Amino acid sequence: MNLHTLLLERFKAAIVAIGAPADSPAPLSRSTRPEFGEYQFNGAMALAKVLRQKPRDIAQKIVDAVELSDVAQKLEIAGPGFINIHLSADWMARQLENAATDPRLGVDTESQQTVVVDYSSPNLAKEMHVGHLRSTIIGDAVAKAIEFMGHKVIRQNHMGDWGTQFGMLLAHLNDKLAANQVAETALSDLEDFYREAKVRFDNEEGFADRAREYVVKLQSGDEQCMGLWQQFIDVSVAHSEEVYEKLNVSLGREHIMGESAYNDDLANVLNALKEQQIVVEDQGAQVVFLEELADKEGNPAAYIMQKSGGGYLYSTTDQAAIRYRCGQLGADRTLIFTDARQALHFKQTEIVARKAGFIADEQTYEHCPFGMMLGKDGKPFKTRSGATVKLADLLDEAVERAETLISKRDSDWSEEEKKDIARKVGIGAVKYSDLSKNRTTDYIFDWDTMLSFEGNTAPYLQYAYTRAKKVLSNGNVDANTLKSSIALEEPQEKLLAVKLLQYVESINQVTSEATPHVMCTYIYELASIFSTFYEACPILKEDVPEQAKQSRLMLTALTARTLKSAMDLLGIETMEKM
Ligand code: ARG
Repeated sequence: MNLHTLLLERFKAAIVAIGAPADSPAPLSRSTRPEFGEYQFNGAMALAKVLRQKPRDIAQKIVDAVELSDVAQKLEIAGPGFINIHLSADWMARQLENAATDPRLGVDTESQQTVVVDYSSPNLAKEMHVGHLRSTIIGDAVAKAIEFMGHKVIRQNHMGDWGTQFGMLLAHLNDKLAANQVAETALSDLEDFYREAKVRFDNEEGFADRAREYVVKLQSGDEQCMGLWQQFIDVSVAHSEEVYEKLNVSLGREHIMGESAYNDDLANVLNALKEQQIVVEDQGAQVVFLEELADKEGNPAAYIMQKSGGGYLYSTTDQAAIRYRCGQLGADRTLIFTDARQALHFKQTEIVARKAGFIADEQTYEHCPFGMMLGKDGKPFKTRSGATVKLADLLDEAVERAETLISKRDSDWSEEEKKDIARKVGIGAVKYSDLSKNRTTDYIFDWDTMLSFEGNTAPYLQYAYTRAKKVLSNGNVDANTLKSSIALEEPQEKLLAVKLLQYVESINQVTSEATPHVMCTYIYELASIFSTFYEACPILKEDVPEQAKQSRLMLTALTARTLKSAMDLLGIETMEKM
């Protein structure tokens, strides 16, 4: 059951009943203060103009017409014509009792769509660095939320495994293997390897020419060269997989659909564009001129599909990818997570693909950009020496820092338990501090804030979860099987009830806008409200009547399960004690 949708539908019916057009705006929002009820309908003011009546009169007519006797305890008109909705405590209690016996917590699935999610997609020529953190974890959280709503998610890891830089890398690898090295050792540090190759490319006589020969050989499918390439890719993919494992993300080998996978299709895609005269020759290159993205002087933007030497580009591959995803995979939606600097590329890519009919009108292509991760100095996040930070190193540091933190606490945990908790806290902190920020802006990476047990952080939420679980175990009940009736008497109980019922609203927002921070805000609020409830409403104290005790245990169980479910979707691990 989606509370917001349910209320909205009832109000829409009421609007029609009082003679307003069915498509009239129907703004329904959450109330900002409990005395205004839980939701507020603000449509009367706009309708007043259309129906030429006073807003308050319209509001009264809506109140008379809307069928909410089951859901609301009272409706109130305030100010110029706001309608405050006070939900019925009984009705909320019944909804929560249903949610308590439902493994999906009362969240209905939606009609199934096929959704392609393109995320992580690192460049295999180099080691995964902090820039890939955002794409990987934001994409993963959104993919999981969409899946939870019942859709078919097809993960596509569009790895950068092709292109001219591989000429230089393969020439260097060839020499290392000739000198009796094995690929795994030679490539144990991809950053060093890349740097060495680049130094040779810039300085060593003849090396650049050999690198270029390798590019040609690679493109023509030369066997020896393909063998080297495969070795390189295998080692680099294994590096990425280590990072995925550390990060607890749901990407596996089966989701890899790298750039090279489209090689055989690039000529076909170009031909299709030529046939439709979308692409034209310009100084030997094949170019699409986009009038819709012209600059101030009126010069159309140039989207190059093939270079004058015959080489294909990132954009050609993306055209092939769209055609495959929308055609063969049948994607209703395609979501792509990259940093904001690629926004123009994806805008152009979509326009061209729509012209070519690679994507149909009803199919969406949603570039989901994100900002940069900055250091405390407000500049792009770097190591002290100014080098890019390897993601694997960053994650190891997170676990180490969490270990130090945990070891300071009094506990009877075994070494193994401590290690496990430290891993979950450290990785959780890095992920959560990123996920909880609105993705479109840059954010400052700060160890101290993210590892704090106070505020909107992973440790705070993981702790809140263990606290709820502790109450349940002290009360000898199992969160998943507890079944009794709920009565909402105290204001803190009602506040908690409303928040629990809003879980689905936050998932819906995450799936439609690709914004996991909405879910983070939600669980932070839920945890804070739970904490207030816990202070105000004793649960296991002796003088608490049995009925209230059972009801409060039910609310606690629902809170624990909701926190866990939400953190699962975000990819944040929880533990039973902390
Ligand atoms: N490999 C690219 C990068 O590291 C991201 C690829 C995103 N997906 C795509 N279909 N272009 O920037």
